[in-house]
Amino acid sequence: MAILEVKDVNKAFGGLKALNAVNLSVEEGTVHAIIGPNGAGKSTLLNCFVGRLIPDTGSVIFNGRSLLGIKPHEINQTGVARVFQTPEIFTDLSILENVMIPAFAKVDGSFRINAWKTVGTRGEVRDMAEKVLEEVGLQEKRDIIASSLSRGDKRRLEMAMCLVQDPKLLLLDEPTAGMSRADTNNTVDLLQRVGTHITKIVIEHDMHVVFSLADHISVLAQGTVIAGGKPEDIKGNPKVQEAYLGGRTHECRNGETGRNGSGAVRGRLFLLPGAAELLRRELYRSGRQLRCEAGRDPGIAGPERRRQDVDAAYHRAHGRSATA
Ligand SMILES: Nc1ncnc2c1ncn2[C@@H]1O[C@H](COP(=O)(O)OP(=O)(O)OP(=O)(O)O)[C@@H](O)[C@H]1O
Ligand SMILES: [Mg+2]
Repeated sequence: MAILEVKDVNKAFGGLKALNAVNLSVEEGTVHAIIGPNGAGKSTLLNCFVGRLIPDTGSVIFNGRSLLGIKPHEINQTGVARVFQTPEIFTDLSILENVMIPAFAKVDGSFRINAWKTVGTRGEVRDMAEKVLEEVGLQEKRDIIASSLSRGDKRRLEMAMCLVQDPKLLLLDEPTAGMSRADTNNTVDLLQRVGTHITKIVIEHDMHVVFSLADHISVLAQGTVIAGGKPEDIKGNPKVQEAYLGGRTHECRNGETGRNGSGAVRGRLFLLPGAAELLRRELYRSGRQLRCEAGRDPGIAGPERRRQDVDAAYHRAHGRSATA
């Protein structure tokens, strides 16, 4: 059964069509990944699910109820929680206090001005918050002020703030953005472990994360869903490669990165979504050469955001370094 149905959603910012006739159906209990190049409209789409933006036309039905025109906090109370692209936490409060705030909202049904004085529910709320902090592995840090947390822990905290509300639908906008590989792996682990009954929509650039978590992938490009299906179908989809790479294969010629006068790329690259752009940027920045035999698949499941990741992915596939 679909828990979220998006039909023909359009959203323009001035002359820019950020969303163009988007259709999407998210099955209950699944992890649905939305991928796509920068500026594809992914965050805009999520904003339409939480009431931050109202589509110009189209419908968004959650659990049989239209979300359009409903205020963000009311949408939240229907069971939709969101982890933002930039963590939104109360930086001058402790971790525990951060999680207690949405827990109060859950218990009381709304945010209350005098929430902190409600002695009757405080114990219950504290218990809920502590249980979730245990789940996400932040229990020992519960009294630390949120501003001093690492990026990975801030994400974990945000996740806890969502989980404590026990949402039906959890929206995650780039949950691993800016994280180290170790923190990324921890986050994937966490998402696989906690809230298994919760339907999740994950926007991600990191394909390791996408393919580790997703049951279904929708690909957005220039505001339109250009492909949707199981991860194995999306991986080899020519339309997807076209969207990311501007072609099924990326033909690198000598001198292509010669803009900085020192780099050159040879060979025919066949890259998974997102890797090509990064690789180009890395090569441009580093002025190093990518050695790739003609017609060979470097096997880079991108986008790997840093050169060491590109190297590691290449190394995994070929047992040697990609850059030299
Ligand atoms: N509030 C806004 N006003 C004007 N333009 C906007 C606004 N929000 C987004 N856009 C534009 O709409 C397009 C889609 O942006 P969006 O943030 O949804 O992309 P995205 O797929 O989330 O990209 P990224 O992967 O970089 O996060 C972009 O061209 C962006 O500049
Ligand atoms: Mg975005």
